[in-house]
Amino acid sequence: MKDFPCTLWLTGLSAAGKTTLALALADSLAASDVICQILDGDVVRQELSRDLGFSKEDRSENIRRVANRCRQLNDAGTWAIAALISPYREDRGLARQTVGKARFFEVYLATSLADCEARDPKALYRRARAGEIANFTGISDPYEVPLIPELSFDTNRQSLNECVAATLEWLELNDFRVKRCD
Ligand code: ADX
Repeated sequence: MKDFPCTLWLTGLSAAGKTTLALALADSLAASDVICQILDGDVVRQELSRDLGFSKEDRSENIRRVANRCRQLNDAGTWAIAALISPYREDRGLARQTVGKARFFEVYLATSLADCEARDPKALYRRARAGEIANFTGISDPYEVPLIPELSFDTNRQSLNECVAATLEWLELNDFRVKRCD
């Protein structure tokens, strides 16, 4: 297993399954006494990034702040799981540099726009289509697909347990207990 704290960077469209996977991974790690902290976009934007909007510049600043926090956590011995849309490749690349290549793992939630839009748990896609939300990722703002993510999952085709098990296996945490979610 990786014997040093790492950052799992979950990226993908809104409603792709980032938060669900982050929580499940944190549960599985905790079951094996590995402490980790989740930095989730919706939460971060109420706290660390509450002054930011969704312009390209503000998203970059959001990612920069979260990457710095991940590095601090890793330096202090804690694993970090970031769950942010983080739509721009350049920003994700800078996050990788900030955290450090050896301990940064990009996990792409590749759930399609059509599937995310069908889920629409917060009715944000509907409002974006109606023109009520500007610069909405996937509708009126771009999402740049990761070119070489460490891991990639389509949560409409793969179960949560499969995604968790594959991630732990990839991290060489095979001896860790996968906390089943069904
Ligand atoms: S990021 O682009 O800067 O990485 P982040 O993950 O922090 O985004 O926040 C995304 C969350 O903010 C979405 O899940 C959604 O709930 C909310 N949101 C509000 N407005 C927008 C928008 N214009 N584009 C994307 N998400 C938005």
